[in-house]
Amino acid sequence: MSRIKIFDTTLRDGEQSPGCSMNLKEKIEVAKCLERLKVDVIEAGFAISSPGDFESVQTIAGSVKDCTVASLARATAKDIDCAWEAVKNAADPRIHLFIATSPLHMEYKLKMTPEQVLERTEEMTRRAVKYCSNVEFSCEDATRSDVDFLCRVVEIAIRCGATVINLPDTVGYTTPDEMRQLISTVMGRVPGTEKVEFSVHCHNDLGMAVANSLAGVQGGARQIECTINGLGERAGNTALEEVVMAMRTRPDIYGVEQTRIDTRQIARASRTVYSIIGQKAPLNKPIVGRNAFLHESGIHQHGVLANKRTYEILTPEAVGIRTNNLVLGKHSGRHAFSNHLSAMGYELTDEELNVVFEEFKQLCDKKKDVSDEEIEALVTHSTTVAENEPNGFKLDWFAVQTTNFTTATSTVSLKLGDKKFQEVALGDGPIDAAFQAIDKIVKPIPHTFDIFRIDSTSQGKDTMGDVRIKLMAEGETFSGHGLSTDIFEASIIAYLGALNRLNAWVERQGE
Ligand code: KIV
Ligand code: ZN
Repeated sequence: MSRIKIFDTTLRDGEQSPGCSMNLKEKIEVAKCLERLKVDVIEAGFAISSPGDFESVQTIAGSVKDCTVASLARATAKDIDCAWEAVKNAADPRIHLFIATSPLHMEYKLKMTPEQVLERTEEMTRRAVKYCSNVEFSCEDATRSDVDFLCRVVEIAIRCGATVINLPDTVGYTTPDEMRQLISTVMGRVPGTEKVEFSVHCHNDLGMAVANSLAGVQGGARQIECTINGLGERAGNTALEEVVMAMRTRPDIYGVEQTRIDTRQIARASRTVYSIIGQKAPLNKPIVGRNAFLHESGIHQHGVLANKRTYEILTPEAVGIRTNNLVLGKHSGRHAFSNHLSAMGYELTDEELNVVFEEFKQLCDKKKDVSDEEIEALVTHSTTVAENEPNGFKLDWFAVQTTNFTTATSTVSLKLGDKKFQEVALGDGPIDAAFQAIDKIVKPIPHTFDIFRIDSTSQGKDTMGDVRIKLMAEGETFSGHGLSTDIFEASIIAYLGALNRLNAWVERQGE
């Protein structure tokens, strides 16, 4: 069996789903993870959908070297021109063109007759291939389309020069048998299919996205469209980590050399994406959930001690989860700390290492052992702090007063350059009061909280509070991250980080 290409759409289908929006910096971070993972194609966005999307597709296209970079486009001249403008400087650009082919979508969404859809397919595929030799054509809602009609559309797209044909299960409606059948029927019936690659793009509404994608491969597809952690519209898309590890674990079915994915990068990519959207993996999430490799019951533990393979079909190491964690503490030196970071997959510059090591030492004064999760949180936090607006507000000190019988009060002192500002406020709890005091000083433009999440970095009561905040203002998002053994402090730092970014953006708009 020839190699299966992995087309990642975390930055397009994933990002367009509620609660998953990312700013430019975050998208670039995800693109770097995808390049490290060695996905074949990064769908960087839908260039025409907003100036922000255009900018991120263009930036990613300009920086990624080892993957194809695609932009989505509807079958209209404007969309295609814009998609090309955004990806044209990529090392290997692709235009991903789509039109709906199901009776429902054609009549109610496109308000087009089937004949018009055929004409549009011809005209727009020709337009896209004039720009780019790598054009993917998707038949939206393929699994609810009439197969004869679908074959006519695919035939035209191939004749006009499309190089990849994608048959999406847009609404997560199909079943594995049906998907296998659909791909093999279309590939068998339409002339010229041997010249192109077939692709599957499955949604998870009935929990079958991974199974349907694998069935598509059995039907003849050689590209799987998926997202990290299965993010995506409604119940999400095929989860990259699941579909890749399913093929890796069953070479007897899917062959040996299936993808070029470096699976040891999976855990890191998953954590990065969850952390950007302010979520954590559900405990029982396949491959990346905290319990995915834990064996709790006595019978299972007994079996695993005798031979891991009794209850373990893949190893945590294969997806980049380290199990023999050497716990670091106050006696660990800079060298041991740096080696530990490399083993975790982080290569920091000397300067970055100094900052993280300093924070690590401070943390060791507060707690005995520092886990990998905490070290990872320190690294992420130090990069966000390094990228903080240098001229923004910094926390000087704060005091909170809270009881279960009075209204909470917080006083906050902030520094801006050499100046100091103090305010006090009441609130629904000490964090709300602290944020109100901060608002009185910073006077930000109106905004809402898209994400406010407080997590712990480990299980013990001496854990650190890991706070993620994402503010929304005028259609843009501004994130902040705070990390401290004191959750009030972590929350204040995260809020200030997000506000400083918001203020800097407002200033740039006025220039
Ligand atoms: O689900 C879908 O049909 C899509 C297409 C635009 C590829 O996301
Ligand atoms: Zn989709």
